[in-house]
Amino acid sequence: MSTTNPNETPHDKDGLYRPDLNPCIAVIVGTRPGIVMLGPVIKELERRAIDHFVIHTGQHYSPNMDAQFFADIALSAPQYRIDGTAAHTTHGAQTAHMLSGIEDILLQARPRMVLVGGDANSNLAGALAARKLGMTLGHVEAGERSFDWSMPEEHNRRMIDHISDYLFVTGENAVGNLEREGVQGAIVRSGNPIVDASREFSRLALARPNIEEHLGVADRRYAILTMHRQENVDNPERLQGALQGVSDAAVALGIPTLFFVHPRTQKRLEEFSLLDWLHDCPGIELREPAGYLDFLAYVARSALIFTDSGGVQQEACIHGINCVTLRDNTEWVETIDIGANRLAGCEPMAIVDAAKDASATTCKWEVPFGDGHAAARIVDCAVEVLK
Ligand code: UD1
Ligand code: UDP
Repeated sequence: MSTTNPNETPHDKDGLYRPDLNPCIAVIVGTRPGIVMLGPVIKELERRAIDHFVIHTGQHYSPNMDAQFFADIALSAPQYRIDGTAAHTTHGAQTAHMLSGIEDILLQARPRMVLVGGDANSNLAGALAARKLGMTLGHVEAGERSFDWSMPEEHNRRMIDHISDYLFVTGENAVGNLEREGVQGAIVRSGNPIVDASREFSRLALARPNIEEHLGVADRRYAILTMHRQENVDNPERLQGALQGVSDAAVALGIPTLFFVHPRTQKRLEEFSLLDWLHDCPGIELREPAGYLDFLAYVARSALIFTDSGGVQQEACIHGINCVTLRDNTEWVETIDIGANRLAGCEPMAIVDAAKDASATTCKWEVPFGDGHAAARIVDCAVEVLK
């Protein structure tokens, strides 16, 4: 009886699966921040006519978390989309489903390089699939650390960084983290493509006709709130504490705060029966998640930003807007060092104090996330891999 499995893949002596890979790049997206971050990289690949394709993991799927972003940055629809991801609600099942779907596509298309960006489960799934198939793996936004082991994103970042061949970093803080951890791959100082995207698309967003009417708020006369981190919104005390603090701060500063409610947060507000209470909170106006162009325009014209989002902390800094971060730690320590951001956690008094401090601070700093040419550097590196 033969013990050879006809479906088994060949292995070399190092145990890595090495098919003859195609000179082609797979880009993995699947969440709102992932589309924003890798959008400029995909566009640069298109511009240089480098063979590539995009896999969408299906992690985010609501039109205002997904399709709207492709439309806003004029990105073609992904060549591959994994079905059924939304049915999986635990980290393990969701990651496993995406990993298996990505592996099927990679086995079929056999790209030489795979790019992931950020710290969501989509990226962990893509990274694991590429690593196990012996494909060259690049991680965009590598080396960021909150040193908070309760965050699923911190687990994902560390795992991805330690299995990547190329670590595309935002700045020197990330380099230090990666060197201390002794990562295997090569560190590439690319900067973060969120700067490329923010600069290009905020110009477009703000140049649209009747922008003030469209946004419905007067320039610099409002604040913004986004909040979706699991450790905040899945905990009713933290969620309610943060919202109370933002409401108190909005009243104290005399400006309304537009709260763009993430679907996870919407679900939790319903589960914890907080919606009626929130509607009665003065100073907070509830909104659906905004599309990317609208959101950038809201950011650029705001007086102050409250957030627990990684990307929104960066965008506040890029646009010269003071930020109050509703967390006890941040991976974007550069923003704290330059005075663009302050950590307030979810205690109402601390949020009010931080908002007052922010309002009294002059917004003058150098953007510490790169020069807006990150996508070009990432693609330069990819071109070398394909040679
Ligand atoms: C995920 C990422 C997080 C990232 C965030 C960006 C992980 C572990 N978390 O968190 O790092 O900051 O995306 O927004 O990968 N939902 C919808 N429609 C959607 C997407 C989500 O209704 O398009 C709802 C679903 O009920 C879903 C829940 O939100 O179960 C959570 O979505 P999920 O993608 O698991 O995590 P996020 O909280 O979005
Ligand atoms: N964003 C958006 N509309 C919103 C809220 C956020 O377009 O209502 C964009 C924002 O410009 C940023 C990205 O979403 O580029 C950040 O994603 P998110 O906060 O969901 O995730 P994180 O960055 O925390 O991983």
